[in-house]
Amino acid sequence: MPAVQRPAVPAPRTTHSPASLAALARGFAADTASWEPLLRFTAPERFYTRLSVAADHEVWLLTWLPGQGTEIHDHGGSSGAFTVVRGELAEGTFLPGAVSSPHAAPRRLAVGGLRSFGPRYVHEVVNRGTEPAASVHAYAPALTAMNTYRHRADGTLVLDRTEEVDR
Ligand SMILES: [Fe+2]
Repeated sequence: MPAVQRPAVPAPRTTHSPASLAALARGFAADTASWEPLLRFTAPERFYTRLSVAADHEVWLLTWLPGQGTEIHDHGGSSGAFTVVRGELAEGTFLPGAVSSPHAAPRRLAVGGLRSFGPRYVHEVVNRGTEPAASVHAYAPALTAMNTYRHRADGTLVLDRTEEVDR
């Protein structure tokens, strides 16, 4: 077995759990006045903006035109949660070091659909629908970097690059 290639995960610097982040994302999503006036849909770059920054977590609004999506990525050791507030998103989850099919049975998330995850979670999120979509994301600790993964020719998922998140 080849060594699994994945970045080191920093020690937790937050008291938030995936469950508390889910509650946080749900709370912001329900407070439509906090995000509806901010909605923008842009191409080719997706629109995103922070809704809240605290000492140990942050909340983002992201929008997705049809066909827009992420690459396969993790959250640099942060835990997180996201919920769909407009349209529909598809989420695929992945296991670094394993052979995987990138689009095998993505999970469909309609408005109100929610996912929460720990610090080693690897996924991609895409708007495969025909309408613009938007989602509210909570992370703890606040995002500092995201690692992007790619499939090798043999289908194994490996680390591709690390990108700093602008503060
Ligand atoms: Fe993500």
